Amino acid sequence: MKVLHVIHLVIEFTYSFLIKFDVWASSKAKLEQYVLKYKKANTSTEEKFAIVTGANSGVGFETSKALALAGFRVIMACRSRESTEEAISKLELETGLKTFEFIQLDLSSFKSIDVFVDQYKKSHNKLHLLVNNAGIAFCPYTKTKDGIEMQFGTNHLGHFKLTNDLLDLIKASERARIVVVSSLANYHGTFDKSLILEESKYNKANNYGISKLCNIMFSNELSKRLAGTGVTVNSLHPGAVNTNMVKNYPGSLVNILSLLKLLILIDPIAGSLTSIKVALDPELEGVTGKFFMHEEEATQLSEALDEKKCKELWDFSEELIIKHST
Ligand SMILES: NC(=O)c1ccc[n+]([C@@H]2O[C@H](COP(=O)([O-])OP(=O)(O)OC[C@H]3O[C@@H](n4cnc5c(N)ncnc54)[C@H](OP(=O)(O)O)[C@@H]3O)[C@@H](O)[C@H]2O)c1
Repeated sequence: MKVLHVIHLVIEFTYSFLIKFDVWASSKAKLEQYVLKYKKANTSTEEKFAIVTGANSGVGFETSKALALAGFRVIMACRSRESTEEAISKLELETGLKTFEFIQLDLSSFKSIDVFVDQYKKSHNKLHLLVNNAGIAFCPYTKTKDGIEMQFGTNHLGHFKLTNDLLDLIKASERARIVVVSSLANYHGTFDKSLILEESKYNKANNYGISKLCNIMFSNELSKRLAGTGVTVNSLHPGAVNTNMVKNYPGSLVNILSLLKLLILIDPIAGSLTSIKVALDPELEGVTGKFFMHEEEATQLSEALDEKKCKELWDFSEELIIKHST
């Protein structure tokens, strides 16, 4: 295991420990504070809309709940109608609110993204918050419906297309925010086209890191392109969270995690704190192009801050979409 991995594990461990054992305040109380702070600052009576991708489970589920409590109408953009309807029933019961909506979205299909955007635009003319939360991790080599490596195709490219296709509505909405859920794994990524395009170079952990670095590079490039529009874009790592995703972690990591599970993995409520802070905190008004973890701004890889590289990723993403669209 590399020194960097150990350092990251120690940081995660410390944060998780402090959160799990309520050394600061309970994560539920912290979430309530973020919601209250937002509600106090937001005096507008206009109905606000938020889209959360991958909202039916884990971090996305808890993020959707907090956003609804903050007053948003939450559009849950998920693959499965059945599991999302189940999630909505649970959310309605837990919040007493009926402000959740399902629109089907499979980020691994350009066609599905087109249908989602059409359907959203038919019934909504504003979008105040987009939370690009959905993700897959450590899957064996597979391709999206459009023939692109699955982790890059879903985690980065699907969200790249979705965001761009919704930008007109986002720009038309007052003080809109785009929140991109990346991962600590970004620190182990590098943007190298051959690692994305060539199956023989595929490594499930490395390619997850690449997709998560691309989340941040996209977020940074978009924040630059949206300068002066009032729309902000930030990315984040949610923590090491006990969700469906960790079941797919590579063997060695699973062994370590199962051993230290009680101490390391935080619950999805705690895992949604950074997303909620970045989405709602009035003190982050105008803050854009930043990366957050453990609820605070964090350092970014020099590659993520390299404007030439970020632009290169943007052009590459556009080219792939054109090339692979039928
Ligand atoms: N858990 C962690 O420790 C951790 C650490 C760092 C970063 N993250 C990031 O946190 C985010 C949320 O993950 P989680 O931990 O909450 O895991 P999760 O419970 O597995 O949630 C992932 C969500 O993404 C959805 N999804 C996957 N592929 C999709 C597709 N093609 N189209 C639409 N939705 C799709 C899943 O839908 P289905 O239910 O249909 O599969 C699910 O709703 C991810 O971006 C992940 O990379 C998690």
